[in-house]
Amino acid sequence: MPPEPRISASPEEAVRRLRAAGCVFAEEEAGLLAGAAGSATELDAMIERRAAGLPLEHILGWADFCGLRIGVVTGVFVPRRRTEFLVRQAELLLGGTARDAGRRDAPAPAVVDLCCGSGAVGTALLARVGGIELHASDLDPAAVLCARSNIEPAGGHVHEGDLFEPLPARLRSRITVLVANAPYVPTAAIGTMPPEARLHEPRMSLDGGADGLDIQRRVIAAAPAWLARGGHVLIETSRGQARRTIGLMREAGLSARLAQDPELDATVAIGAVVIGTAA
Ligand SMILES: C[S@@+](CC[C@H](N)C(=O)[O-])C[C@H]1O[C@@H](n2cnc3c(N)ncnc32)[C@H](O)[C@@H]1O
Repeated sequence: MPPEPRISASPEEAVRRLRAAGCVFAEEEAGLLAGAAGSATELDAMIERRAAGLPLEHILGWADFCGLRIGVVTGVFVPRRRTEFLVRQAELLLGGTARDAGRRDAPAPAVVDLCCGSGAVGTALLARVGGIELHASDLDPAAVLCARSNIEPAGGHVHEGDLFEPLPARLRSRITVLVANAPYVPTAAIGTMPPEARLHEPRMSLDGGADGLDIQRRVIAAAPAWLARGGHVLIETSRGQARRTIGLMREAGLSARLAQDPELDATVAIGAVVIGTAA
């Protein structure tokens, strides 16, 4: 005989167990898990995994991002609410461009989501901005697989490899908007992150090296060769690192500014090709 499930599908019991495990939004989470579980036994197992500290999104198999359900699997970075601000900034820059392209029958603006993880940013841009050619890349094969399941049905392309290396060469000097939420946590700060991130997200999705800027530095140094005339590079950073991210952009010959949303605790550095300096 299989063992009896530890709970019936009682919502109160689910909330109680999640709350006892320290889940701040126990009621909301219990509702989501109950909606996803096919049986009381499955719900019991899901609550067990959540109480053991697994990210809710890995258990559900999706994350809510920009109003979309983005597929997320174990071992892939869970897209954060603050990154919706990166999407909004890219959308603002692309709005006019993409519409113009449609009107004038010009080639679709090329948009690249570097370090794409699940592909949340690229998928949201495809949903919000019509008429773009979207490419995404990541070094982690698990992320690439996940990103393909989100981005390809929406018409984008996903490549596996180190930063720009796997992108089609024809995109050189042609990218209108380059977005990157690359790892930017300083190595020494990883130990202070919540266990959900520290224990359940891959180290390579978090670790930005000694000052947190190792990957940003490489993205920004290479960006001018890939950006189109009038193109932009947008990089999520933190309030504390923003000045240095901006400094890296200026060193690369880009003009640079910051956009911030205090409510989301979101900071995005935006670099633009100074006309006459595009490769
Ligand atoms: C902070 S996560 C962000 C994922 C996604 N952009 C998001 O916002 O949900 C950073 C991602 O960068 C990827 N990554 C780290 N180093 C990389 C490299 N050298 N080249 C490409 N991707 C890299 C990781 O695999 C991870 O998926």
